[in-house]
This record gives sequence, C-alpha cells and structure tokens, in this order.
Amino acid sequence: MKTLILFFCLAGLSILLAAQNPGTIVLDPPDKDGGMSTMKAFALRSSAREFDTTELKLKDLSDLLWAADGINRPESGKRTAPSAMNAQDIDIYVFMKTGVYLYDAGKHTLEFAAEGDHRKAVAGRQENMAKAPVMLVLVSDISRFRSGGDSLKITWAYADAGIVSQNIALYCASAGLATRPRGTMDQEKLRAILQLKDSQYPVLNNPVSYKLPDQ
Ligand SMILES: Cc1cc2nc3c(=O)[nH]c(=O)nc-3n(C[C@H](O)[C@H](O)[C@H](O)COP(=O)(O)O)c2cc1C
Repeated sequence: MKTLILFFCLAGLSILLAAQNPGTIVLDPPDKDGGMSTMKAFALRSSAREFDTTELKLKDLSDLLWAADGINRPESGKRTAPSAMNAQDIDIYVFMKTGVYLYDAGKHTLEFAAEGDHRKAVAGRQENMAKAPVMLVLVSDISRFRSGGDSLKITWAYADAGIVSQNIALYCASAGLATRPRGTMDQEKLRAILQLKDSQYPVLNNPVSYKLPDQ
C-alpha cells in the first residue's frame, strides 16, 4: 500500500513539474520558398493598431522567428539580421498565453524562460496590444560588443533591434500577419520577469497576430 501511495505521489509530482516547465518547443524548419515578392511586401508593410486573438500556427511562428533573426548561413552562424561587429546582441523573447520563451537561433527552438501570461507587461499603457497571441520582445545584451563605451554600445543596440523589428514587419506583410514596432513596454516588470542582467536592454517589441478581416 505504502509503495502504491509513493508511486501516485511521484506521478503527481512529475505531472506538476511538466506543467510548470514546458521545456523546449522545437520549431519547424523555415519555409524559404514561402511568402510574396520583396517589393509586394514593402508595398503592404504597415503598423497595425488592432490584433486578432487566434493562436499562431507553429509553422507561422517558426517562419516568423527565422525571418526575424534566424541563422541563414550555417557555415558562419550569421543571421538574417546584421548586427554591429556581428555581436548578435539581440535576443528574442516570445510572450504567449502559455508562458515566455527565448528563441535559440542556433537550435531553432524556443527555450522556456518564464511561467505565466505576461503580455500585459509588454503592452504597457497600450493595453489593447496584449490581445495579440504572440509578442516578440527584442532584448540587446550590450556586453556582447567587444569594444566601445556604453553610450556607443546602446546606439548599436537600438540600431540592431530596429533591423530585427523591420525583418519581423516585412515577414508579417509577406505572410498576411499584423504587427507594430513598439518602444512602449513596462521595462521594470519585464526586467523582473526575464531576470535580466544590467547589460541587457529591452529595446523594442512587436505584437504579432493574423490580420483581422478589415485589415
Ligand atoms: C522606434 C519605434 C518605436 C515605436 N513605438 C511605438 C509605440 O510605443 N507605440 C505605438 O503604438 N507605435 C509605435 N511605433 C509605431 C509608429 O507609430 C508607426 O510606425 C508610425 O505611426 C508610422 O506608421 P507605419 O508603420 O504604418 O508606417 C514605433 C515605431 C518605431 C519605428
């Protein structure tokens, strides 16, 4: 009897742990033949004000992250977005209803970063932005720049994040998704949720959803 009780306790504990730490999400390989022509994507790029609440399909999330800052030259490990001194200082945190994940470009996976739905912290005072099922927060770690003073490194951080954000916007235009580049977010809350170091700066964020019928 004691063994049976112990078995059920351990089984319950492992279910609880699995629910608390969803671990790794393996993304689909990027569809490099997808999307529309670059010129059409430029013609369609715009910042959405309203977001649909439908969850993104894994395939769309996978392509979105690869387009944002995935590895496009595996031989050198270089990315779809350039970065000053190839510091690759931008980390993409993916905020969803189910928790927060960090995009690992090398493995093309999402690694569990924090429990809970924290999209409101990303939305900040623009609360309606938290309707988007996915919010990408671009965090620069300026300690990855090998030279320069802090103020120069912060300039590079903002430039690098801007390029990643524009990759997101062009991918979204091409794939029929809605997005908006945003500087607004609750920096203090995000620092606590993501347990950021002093050298890490949340620079921009992009809510992403499917387009609403009138968009
Ligand atoms: C660096 C940057 C920061 C921005 N921050 C915000 C923001 O905090 N909130 C917001 O609603 N829009 C923000 N925007 C979006 C701009 O308002 C939007 O790009 C501008 O109105 C032009 O519209 P368009 O992107 O459709 O051409 C930001 C854009 C950029 C480039």
